[in-house]
Amino acid sequence: MEKTIKRIGILTSGGDAPGMNAAVRAVVRTALSCGVECVGIRRGYNGLISGDFIRMDAGSVSHIIEKGGTVLYTARSEEFMTEEGQVKAVATCKLLGLDGVVAIGGDGTFRGALALARHGIPVVGIPATIDNDIGCSQYTIGFDTACNTAVDAIDMLRDTMQSHERCSLVEVMGRQAGYLALYVGIATGATAVLIPERTVDLERDVIEKIRQARLSGRTHYMVVVAEGAGSAFDIAAQIKAGIGLDPRVTVLGHIQRGGSPSSRDRETATRMGYQAVQCLVNGNPNRVIATKDGKVVDIDIEEALTMVKPFPMDRYNVLEAVTSHNH
Ligand code: F6P
Repeated sequence: MEKTIKRIGILTSGGDAPGMNAAVRAVVRTALSCGVECVGIRRGYNGLISGDFIRMDAGSVSHIIEKGGTVLYTARSEEFMTEEGQVKAVATCKLLGLDGVVAIGGDGTFRGALALARHGIPVVGIPATIDNDIGCSQYTIGFDTACNTAVDAIDMLRDTMQSHERCSLVEVMGRQAGYLALYVGIATGATAVLIPERTVDLERDVIEKIRQARLSGRTHYMVVVAEGAGSAFDIAAQIKAGIGLDPRVTVLGHIQRGGSPSSRDRETATRMGYQAVQCLVNGNPNRVIATKDGKVVDIDIEEALTMVKPFPMDRYNVLEAVTSHNH
């Protein structure tokens, strides 16, 4: 006999991402529409351990769809990685009568959710990270907004680099992934893009591209560097040593994590939040919500954590083909 879902918890964990609030809102509103109560767990898994919660009704999630960050706060929990921490978290779930937990975040969040599942708490994960580097999902909440933020910043940088005929080195986020860098590099017409998925050959990937740009008449250059591919400052120093330019370095940093979520992030997060609640109320728990070919799907959580998605390296060829100095 399937247990009727009466109350669920929801938490955000790991690095925040624009659109998390849209997902929280969708989970709460969908749950209420199914007659299920919602309890917001604050500060990620630390909140489950300490019993840091807030009851959530329809009004709790009004006017948050357009807000970056997470109204539930977030954290990375060392204690939850221990069996003792997990036991405390499960005790909170039982004390609050949580029949399920929706966990919004990245791979680490899903590993935590799996630990809860193994202790008998039904869970569903929702992928949210600006890195877009979750193996089971083609898209993760926050990526589009972060790209737009980086593109706007680089467009502004290009103005001044053009005026001063300078070389700009821009470091973007993406802990160990080049999705942001490659997407933004294509969208801004960068001279060169360095990503961790492609071994950096400075002469081939930067110096020669700048030379070709100069030979084609350009006098300013934009180099986008994924933080996982190296330090923009180190690369700037090598450019200076190699060809005498004096690059200006901009590390975009955490500005890429903020801002009002884009329409794509709001809409995708809403569909994911809806699907997460459907999994729980329809007796289909221990899943991770994902997108596949534009559709929102759900995948067994253990399988999801083993999945690897191929990096779209063919897009690097697109970048090379359309970079003006390659002709
Ligand atoms: O995982 C998202 C991310 O923004 C990465 O791109 C970045 O390297 C990391 O988080 C920064 O972590 P923190 O916010 O803890 O400094």
